Amino acid sequence: MMNRANSLVIVGAQWGDEGKGKVIDYLAANADVVARFQGGDNAGHTVVYGANIFKLHHIPSGILYPGCISLLGNGMVINPLVLVDELNKLEKRGISTANLRISGKAHLIMAYHQVYDQANEALLGENKIGTTGRGIGPAYADKALRRGLRAIDMTDIDCFRDRLAQVLPLQNRLLKDAYNYPGYDLEQLVELYRPACERLSPMVTDTSILLADQLSEGKKVLFEGAQGALLDIDHGTYPFVTSSSTVAGAAGPGSGLGPRSTARMLGVLKAYTTRVGEGPFPSEDEGETGDHLRDQGGEYGTTTGRPRRCGWFDAVIARYAARINGLTGLAITKLDVLSSLETINIAVAYECGGKTIKEFPLSMAELQLCKPVYEVFSGWDEDISRVGSITDLPGAAKLYLEAMEEMAGVPVELISVGPDRAQTIIKPRSYLAGWCGGG
Ligand code: IMP
Repeated sequence: MMNRANSLVIVGAQWGDEGKGKVIDYLAANADVVARFQGGDNAGHTVVYGANIFKLHHIPSGILYPGCISLLGNGMVINPLVLVDELNKLEKRGISTANLRISGKAHLIMAYHQVYDQANEALLGENKIGTTGRGIGPAYADKALRRGLRAIDMTDIDCFRDRLAQVLPLQNRLLKDAYNYPGYDLEQLVELYRPACERLSPMVTDTSILLADQLSEGKKVLFEGAQGALLDIDHGTYPFVTSSSTVAGAAGPGSGLGPRSTARMLGVLKAYTTRVGEGPFPSEDEGETGDHLRDQGGEYGTTTGRPRRCGWFDAVIARYAARINGLTGLAITKLDVLSSLETINIAVAYECGGKTIKEFPLSMAELQLCKPVYEVFSGWDEDISRVGSITDLPGAAKLYLEAMEEMAGVPVELISVGPDRAQTIIKPRSYLAGWCGGG
């Protein structure tokens, strides 16, 4: 019998970069499996452990715990060359990658997907999405068009060649006709991928069976979401979104389990808001406050190094993310970054065409015109980066947190006050306190 209480889905509740890597790394200490279920190497997780900084793209944060299985689910798109590079970097630093498992059904990001991604962006010009350029959209498009290669194809180089031979003529035709790109030679591509196929093959398996077995045995499974609610292909700020379902409900189909396998959904929210890439962002501050948040929060992309756009916390978004994910708890990150601000704003509604809007608009054209309505909160001067319990936080910080949970309608269970594992506060008697072995 599956035990739903043993599985937890963690998702970003803004535009990605909420600090999920740190939260997942912290909770992975008590997990038996950490599974990713969507996205690819567009994700960038920074995990800080003492003096060590790890930047992960495909690989879940669980890899840093020797007893934990790290799993790349079928809903992901995987770049074999980048994944091998990631494995090599970890192993060079003494981290074992023996516990990594890859779903045979995960799709592969091929060299031509990156060409399409970058060429599409160039052709869109000022209407570009601002993608990471990693080939994510084209790989998902080929999956839907039923002309993708999957991880299982890597386990037999002859099958890999056969499959590539089926799709390459069409890809080459498209590359030449639509993108004026020379195209690829079959044998050269096979040779490019052969070492990665050999290296990754032993890790390819039926991860759906593995997960179901683990849950039946009462093991703890953490589902690691990438990107965030507003980058979701359906519910995000389309077309300025990524190409996968980033919401908690995607954990099932993206890992080969049914909807009854999960009951707990933790949404990670930064104490303010950031976004990389193009698209609407109502509480963006392009002035001093935005610069201050970027400097204090080190807001530069892990994958692309791009400076992130910054602004105040947006409760309209938090409520929306709570609804579309079915959130049961919140993790608030980077609360320490707000220290020393005299006042702190929360966008509680939008003003648009003389109307006050409290729900996230359906129309992106309308969202573009929305101006935030702010409620102003007192700031605090104290350095909170060493505070270990909610009771020891300054009164103003407690009020700010209470306002966030009330506006989102979901309880705060975890607060992060710095990048290190030690800089984490867990609410006593919450679900997460139980997960971590406390009361
Ligand atoms: P793509 O996923 O590379 O196609 O990019 C589409 C949009 O999602 C762009 O705005 C990217 O900046 C954004 N994006 C993709 N992955 C991440 C992430 O891990 N964090 C934040 N933004 C992301």
